[in-house]
Amino acid sequence: MKRVSYLLLSLAYSAACLPCHQGDPSDLIGYGNDNPLGTTTGGEGGEVVKVNNVKDLTAAISDNVPRVILVDGSFNLTSRLKLGSNKSLIGVGGTASFNNSGITIASVSNVIIRNLKVNFVYGNDGITIQNSTRVWIDHNEFASDLDHGPDHYDGQLDIVRASDWITVSWNYFHDHWKSSLVGNSDSLRSVDKDHFHVTYHHNRWENIGTRGPAGRFGHLHV
Ligand SMILES: *[C@@H]1O[C@H](CO)[C@@H](O)[C@H](O)[C@H]1NC(C)=O
Ligand SMILES: *[C@@H]1O[C@H](CO)[C@@H](O)[C@H](O)[C@H]1NC(C)=O
Ligand SMILES: *[C@@H]1O[C@H](CO)[C@@H](O)[C@H](O)[C@H]1NC(C)=O
Ligand SMILES: *[C@@H]1O[C@H](CO)[C@@H](O)[C@H](O)[C@H]1NC(C)=O
Repeated sequence: MKRVSYLLLSLAYSAACLPCHQGDPSDLIGYGNDNPLGTTTGGEGGEVVKVNNVKDLTAAISDNVPRVILVDGSFNLTSRLKLGSNKSLIGVGGTASFNNSGITIASVSNVIIRNLKVNFVYGNDGITIQNSTRVWIDHNEFASDLDHGPDHYDGQLDIVRASDWITVSWNYFHDHWKSSLVGNSDSLRSVDKDHFHVTYHHNRWENIGTRGPAGRFGHLHV
């Protein structure tokens, strides 16, 4: 009897709060792990800093020096966070969140993002991965609302411009129109060709809009 209740509780817990249920770094499977460049380690081996304000956060993410950045608290961002290479951005305490603006991973390599909530991002994606390799997006939650039509917000997690060797695991995507795009334009076919090795593993999608405006396809819903 006891065991049964425990199982039910842990199921309810993980369903309600995927980002709170921190995984283990050894959980990395798929292309983020198995690829010709080497497994994704993020800031492993570098200094570990805990940040609770945008100034410290921006300073900690911007260079290419390996660093583990523990994100503490809710951030209402006024501009996008641009990550350098060799970074782990990890929410602590189950409450770390970004609102209003999101995260750009562009022309870099070896980035891990875990245990964060990325919500209500305007004018751009929650997270954009562009021209980047070895990225692991794990145990995050992405949400906004479906109240304003498909183009009020952009994608939750978009992977574009020949990005490669990426694992997207254990994320909870909900209440949003455009969830996760891989590749964003026919005109970039020659740039994108032979890239976009992306593993989606154990993600959950709920209340995702099923129709975009005519001519805009490609956002994955499952
Ligand atoms: C990332 O870190 C590794 C190991 O310290 C280093 O060799 C590499 O140059 C770094 N990447 C960049 C883009 O600086
Ligand atoms: C994020 O934005 C939503 C919608 O504007 C708001 O309801 C919520 O309180 C905000 N959260 C934070 C942590 O700023
Ligand atoms: C977040 O910042 C934006 C832009 O400065 C502002 O419009 C919005 O009211 C802020 N939201 C909250 C919940 O503070
Ligand atoms: C793509 O990223 C590499 C660094 O990994 C950079 O040298 C190159 O200029 C970037 N290309 C574009 C089109 O941004």
